[in-house]
Amino acid sequence: MNFASDNVYGVHPKILAALAAANDGTAPSYGGDDLTQAAEAKLAEVFETEVKAYLVTTGTAANGLALSAIAPGYGAIICHSEAHVSSDECNAPEFFTGGAKIVGLSGEGGKITPATIEKTLKGFIRGEHDPKPKGVSITNATELGTVYTPSEVRAIKELIAPRGMKLHMDGARFANAVVGLSTTPAELTWKSGVDVLSFGTSKNGAMVGEAVVFFDMGLAEDFAYRRMRGGQLVAKSRYLGAQMLAYLEGDLWLDNARRANALAQRLADGLKIASQVRVAHDVQANEVFAVMPRQLHQQLVAQGVSYHQRMSADVAGQMKDSETGVRLVLSFATPEADVDRFLALVHGAWMETRHDAR
Ligand SMILES: Cc1ncc(COP(=O)(O)O)c(C=O)c1O
Repeated sequence: MNFASDNVYGVHPKILAALAAANDGTAPSYGGDDLTQAAEAKLAEVFETEVKAYLVTTGTAANGLALSAIAPGYGAIICHSEAHVSSDECNAPEFFTGGAKIVGLSGEGGKITPATIEKTLKGFIRGEHDPKPKGVSITNATELGTVYTPSEVRAIKELIAPRGMKLHMDGARFANAVVGLSTTPAELTWKSGVDVLSFGTSKNGAMVGEAVVFFDMGLAEDFAYRRMRGGQLVAKSRYLGAQMLAYLEGDLWLDNARRANALAQRLADGLKIASQVRVAHDVQANEVFAVMPRQLHQQLVAQGVSYHQRMSADVAGQMKDSETGVRLVLSFATPEADVDRFLALVHGAWMETRHDAR
């Protein structure tokens, strides 16, 4: 039973088959191949608008490079303090931007609001003594398994656009957000004001490869140079193209995410029945955060369950010493039986505790 991340699972068979099919013969290198070009065109179709799309290898590279198109080294990017770009990428955004400041704000459920952004912007009053606010980065689905709705995205855009700031979305779990909200890729991005999206695939069925998708064409100017300089123009790009095409073909990406989200819901619903466990955040995508007695956590680990001990700062601050916060991530390939076995372990432990208490 492995709930450590959605990237602990392998590659979807259809994507693996596409990789094998791409392996025949020769193809132009560095993105000049048909598959890469078809994948870029397919992204425009999926987003129902003209886009500039660039394939890269990792989500970290996608984020850093996308942010570098928004902010120079003297700029500032505002995000949630628990955003991946702020706390999990070893300063890659600072590196790619040449030193932009990543300003992390607190916010319930991993989300920042126009109110907190505005309050922060009011603090930038000293001209060149402060970094220049250049953009906001939001993650959808968030690091805490919640989602920003299109209207929440729009509200942020409406605040920052008049200030000349751009909006980036970290979509490492974009598919989970789209299906969680029953919305469309277009509605959740450019129609709500997103200027550039890091479009993830590797957590949801691909082997490797993400796309930086620009809706603001001006921002894409010179991006080809940024990607090359960042070591992200892949010589055998046909394999990235093949994966992206297979990922999008027939809505495989949405079907995968739907399955992962449904399993997360099933897990969360099951946990809610066990009164010694509380689910910490709304489960709106494919992650479940739960607070449980440390003893139960130890029992689960001893039974071979894998997951990370991780909890949002606001919930962790209210936990008892005897409690552990855990993050459970569901994927397109998590066996349904694993969810049920996990719940059976939790419920079994709960029944034992009740029995002992008698
Ligand atoms: C929200 C979010 N953004 C970006 C990334 C980075 O992706 P990668 O591991 O491909 O660099 C991750 C990976 O965990 C993530 O969870």
